[in-house]
Amino acid sequence: MLSQLLPSRRDFPADDPIFALNTEAQNRAAKGESIINATVGALLDDNGQMVILDTVMELWRELSPKEIAPYAPISGDPAYLTAMVQRYWPELSQFGTGCATPGGSGALALSVRNFLEPGEAVLTLAPYWGPYDTIAQEYGAHVESFPIPEPGHAIDALTFMAKARGILEKQGRLLIWLNDPCHNPTGRSTSPAGRAAIMEALRELCHLGPITLLLDLAYLEYTANPAVVMAALQDYARFAVEGLVLVGASLSVSKTLTLYGARSGALVFPWTSDASLQAALSMSCRGIFSNSPRAPQSLVVRLAKDGKAQARLADEHRHWSEKLTARAMALSDALRMEKLPGVPWQGGFFVTLSAENPKAVAEKLKTRGVFVVPLPNGLRVGLCGLRVQDVPAFALAYRESL
Ligand SMILES: Cc1ncc(COP(=O)(O)O)c(C=O)c1O
Repeated sequence: MLSQLLPSRRDFPADDPIFALNTEAQNRAAKGESIINATVGALLDDNGQMVILDTVMELWRELSPKEIAPYAPISGDPAYLTAMVQRYWPELSQFGTGCATPGGSGALALSVRNFLEPGEAVLTLAPYWGPYDTIAQEYGAHVESFPIPEPGHAIDALTFMAKARGILEKQGRLLIWLNDPCHNPTGRSTSPAGRAAIMEALRELCHLGPITLLLDLAYLEYTANPAVVMAALQDYARFAVEGLVLVGASLSVSKTLTLYGARSGALVFPWTSDASLQAALSMSCRGIFSNSPRAPQSLVVRLAKDGKAQARLADEHRHWSEKLTARAMALSDALRMEKLPGVPWQGGFFVTLSAENPKAVAEKLKTRGVFVVPLPNGLRVGLCGLRVQDVPAFALAYRESL
């Protein structure tokens, strides 16, 4: 152990737990074992090959040297930021306030350091994407959560209200990361009534201190019902223009354009043009990673000008959304065949299955060659990597491991 390394930085796991599980699954598969690997966080086709959207790759090949090599502006190309915002809110003419970031992860990291003091809490729905903890902790903050309702139930507005009030009373400000619609890891979206309850609570609480609602939008293109996604986005937009709560979004090209490795995202606040917020975000960019990669920004700008490419891309998204829908339905059917409840899926790459002792169940599944990610209260199953033909064996192994 290097004495130079700060004592507070010495006890981290060597590997990200999800990547470690994935590596273990791949190593066992490479030795010839029959493995079902539902830990993967990237979309795979039925041959286990990563899906890379053709339209995006065609645009990538068209990029000229000048669209790749120069630095992008520190806070990102404004045309890129506008194009990113208009994918979800086409009625907006510009991005408001914001910056380009290395993926949605970069956007989340910038949000925590601009809206919280170290030691404070960010509020989110549980279960939540594991790296939320890491992103908050790297700034000395932490995550607090309120539970996502069980399928078919309304959000517990009173619990949410109490939780949010407690944080506001303690720290005088509130930052919420709301991964909705198409939530990772449940695959569900809040109902219109659930959204209304959250927004009503925030209206009631905003006199206690400034509130920021950051929508973490990583999977919106992969959904059983695009109209439901658009309706949710419009609800949030209407709430934003009320001006009581600062509403922003963490955006990413990782899943949406299958450009995971291009590391491009954005932190945007489309309904404000506050100069101090813009200056603070630029300062964070400069001080943490400087500019974000130019090539994916250029690609997004090209895409925004190319109606034909947009139509082709929409077809690809529809195709893969249908594939995910088929996988989700097959999983529900297979679970019911095993006399277990089905699992609802509205969008995203994952669903969560219940387990009383998730770690123990995940370990048992591993002995049967089935890999899932144990969460504090369930098991994350990557529909994105689960082939329909593997689903019956998966459901059987799950039932027998419970
Ligand atoms: C819920 C959620 N938010 C944000 C991200 C950010 O991804 P990236 O940094 O690749 O854009 C992910 C990626 O898996 C995610 O699942």
